[in-house]
Amino acid sequence: MLMKSTPEGARDYLVPSRVHPGKFYALPQSPQIFKQLLMISGFDRYYQIARCFRDEDLRADRQPEFTQLDIELSFATMEQIFDLLERLMATIFKEVLAQDLPTPFTRLSYKEAMERFGCDKPDLRFGLELKDLSEILATSDFQVFKSCLESGGSIKAIAIPGGAEFSRKQQDELVNYAKHLGGKGVAFAKVGEGILEAGISKFLSEAEATAMIQATDAKAGDLLAIVADEWETSCKVLAGLRNQLGAQLKLYDPASFAFCWITDFPLFNWDKDHQRWEPAHHMFTLPKEEHLAYFDDPARIGEIQGQLYDMVCNGMELSSGSIRCHRYDIQKKIFDVLGFEEADLKKRFGFFLDALKYGTPPHGGIAPGLDRLIMILTQADSIRDVIAFPKTLRATDLMNQAPSEVDEIQWKELHLKFEE
Ligand code: AMO
Repeated sequence: MLMKSTPEGARDYLVPSRVHPGKFYALPQSPQIFKQLLMISGFDRYYQIARCFRDEDLRADRQPEFTQLDIELSFATMEQIFDLLERLMATIFKEVLAQDLPTPFTRLSYKEAMERFGCDKPDLRFGLELKDLSEILATSDFQVFKSCLESGGSIKAIAIPGGAEFSRKQQDELVNYAKHLGGKGVAFAKVGEGILEAGISKFLSEAEATAMIQATDAKAGDLLAIVADEWETSCKVLAGLRNQLGAQLKLYDPASFAFCWITDFPLFNWDKDHQRWEPAHHMFTLPKEEHLAYFDDPARIGEIQGQLYDMVCNGMELSSGSIRCHRYDIQKKIFDVLGFEEADLKKRFGFFLDALKYGTPPHGGIAPGLDRLIMILTQADSIRDVIAFPKTLRATDLMNQAPSEVDEIQWKELHLKFEE
């Protein structure tokens, strides 16, 4: 548990060393590097029920400490890992709930998941899919749509079944939720017999309205909820509304389970705030062979896909994994994109990079989050319901009152000074 701080994406919990003034251990965000070192050293299979610690903003499915079933295999293909996990889940669901899970699980590429559901962890228990209306509305005179498309955004919509009956208050609630998710708002139009009524319908031509009804598969009595914004925001807002409406309108059986794999993720995401690339999963992921050439073209970095996969159930990411980068030359290209300096790399995880030079076998793995799995099995709404002594959203333990102040003598022993 007391390890070196390694890069996993979230913030580390740090433990100051008494014996080495000014130095710190980090609590593991996951045993990622260790399991890879085991593969590099010749173990061909590993699993561990591993405690993980992450200092990140908490949510209903996140705790600062949680447990993974951490798995790694050498010479494994993605297909073998999918098969292993599908059999594992099927066995668990059979033994715990006496339910037969249909396998193999549905597979969706990241792109398809984003286009159809607006997020990379879609709840497949119900439809209510997003439809892109940008093309249909390309020549729209409606100012909101026009300026969105002119600035490179996209217009997306869902057809809410029976939503034409929604009161003004219900519509306002959806708008407020959209704003909470970072959107500017939601435009509505009621669906009549082959026409659009009320809401923004007066701003649409007949041809546009007909094409919108067709594209969204809307029926009389539905309500079109339309979001025009940057692509990411349109996706995020409608994905949020979709999940909320799915539950509110009881579009699925809460006791059912819909598993899927999401694949073909980009290797890097563009971090707008810091104006730099960041790893989509973690930086030890093997790019797809056919995308290696893109590393030489700065304009194509965003197109590089990784051998990355997530296992999703009922709209929750249950597991994440990848085939790892076992070649130093490729690993070096990844670090170059991320902007790491050689000296900094050596300092941070030189031990790992050195190991990559000794003939590393191809390897890959995955790590299902056990707390989340238990949430799914028990249909709990919050991860706190399935952990014996959970932390609050502010990462405090209400029972023993951690984190707490410590005696001055402990500060001194640890060579620490507190400054406000
Ligand atoms: P990742 O960071 O995606 O991957 O985590 C894997 C799984 O761990 C669970 N999980 C959490 N559960 C509760 N609270 C949290 N704060 C939390 N964070 C993550 C989720 C998630 O899918 N080392 C890689 C795995 C690999 O590549 O093999 C890793 O940790 O269920």
